[in-house]
Amino acid sequence: MDLFEYQARDLFAKHGVPVLAGEVIDTPEAAREATERLGGKAVVKAQVKVGGRGKAGGVKLAADPTDAVEKAGQILGMDIKGHTVHKVMLAQTADIAEEYYVSFLLDRTNRTFLAMASVEGGMEIEEVAATKPEALAKIAVDANEGVTPEKAREIVDAANFPEDVKDGIAEALQKLWTVFVEEDALLVEVNPLIKSGDGKIIALDGKVSLDENADFRQPEHEALEDKAAANPLEAAAKAKNLNYVKLDGEVGIIGNGAGLVMSTLDVVAYAGENHGGVKPANFLDIGGGASAEVMANGLEIILGDPDVKSVFVNVFGGITACDEVANGIVQALELLKSKGENVSKPLVVRLDGNNAELGRKILSDANHPLVQRVDTMDGAADKAAELAAAK
Ligand SMILES: Nc1ncnc2c1ncn2[C@@H]1O[C@H](COP(=O)(O)OP(=O)(O)OP(=O)(O)O)[C@@H](O)[C@H]1O
Ligand SMILES: [Mg+2]
Repeated sequence: MDLFEYQARDLFAKHGVPVLAGEVIDTPEAAREATERLGGKAVVKAQVKVGGRGKAGGVKLAADPTDAVEKAGQILGMDIKGHTVHKVMLAQTADIAEEYYVSFLLDRTNRTFLAMASVEGGMEIEEVAATKPEALAKIAVDANEGVTPEKAREIVDAANFPEDVKDGIAEALQKLWTVFVEEDALLVEVNPLIKSGDGKIIALDGKVSLDENADFRQPEHEALEDKAAANPLEAAAKAKNLNYVKLDGEVGIIGNGAGLVMSTLDVVAYAGENHGGVKPANFLDIGGGASAEVMANGLEIILGDPDVKSVFVNVFGGITACDEVANGIVQALELLKSKGENVSKPLVVRLDGNNAELGRKILSDANHPLVQRVDTMDGAADKAAELAAAK
């Protein structure tokens, strides 16, 4: 889960990383008093979970409270790379002498953690990595040892920070590592980490991504979720323990097993090319135990998506045999009907693997007007795409 800058700032403050005072508001008028409390001037910063806010006009200096109201009015509602700005943070203004870059992240390739640091802060780090790779130091951090004073020293030396800031940055790095570990983060990035006019090291911007696998031991993290932004169907699926991802096509997909669902996305996209370019509308993996209830939950989510024009149920019977899945589909449709759901979208079902024959027979016998059986994956994908295109 990615955090907003102000949430990252709060976590930094909690673990002793030096930050500037700030207030989050969602109406322009609220900027007046907030700016007064911050000492009369402020930097107005769009709170969106996307990089490059500054370049997009989402970070503006306000000289006084009235100016802050005006700048907040300009930034609130702005669209930054497809993200609408609903909140802005007013931050104390910093007297910036220099801008640096530091981060900790999970290095999956090398199965370790990684510290990155550069004297070229402020600008996009991808650009530094591409154009001046020698200016970006990368130091592995052993999970068991963490960032000791020696490790922090190694990082600041590798990045060639000026002598006068090395101690301050090393200290900040150790605290940022505490954020990384204690908050179960996958990414902690500060860009820029600044040296102020009077020589202080301050984190002026923060990006933190938390590991949701650790939610069970981080009860405070639930409050950081941006519930308003969550897709309602994704939230409903999550509540039912289904792996569902909304995509932007027209063919709803249900399969058992992530690998099968992924290849189903491919065959549907491929088949869709012959039917005016229809595409998968989602990814939904009902997993191993596809009971009638799980199938009903899955279908309910998929049918609730107004973009879905047809549904492709692709099941390869393994531990769960096809006859159980077929019964699941039949019962699911009855269940939805009895709940008063309007089930009107065509379903294409392909069953293969364990007990496929019996499963197919159950579907044929049920003879549901919305269900069509196609016994090959490619054929079923083509049928589902055709039905979606015809709607
Ligand atoms: N509190 C502040 N006081 C003075 N200048 C600031 C302050 N916050 C940001 N700035 C200036 O604005 C620049 C951009 O700010 P920031 O890094 O927060 O946003 P960004 O880099 O555009 O956004 P992102 O990190 O999402 O790409 C900083 O590099 C810094 O020069
Ligand atoms: Mg930044």
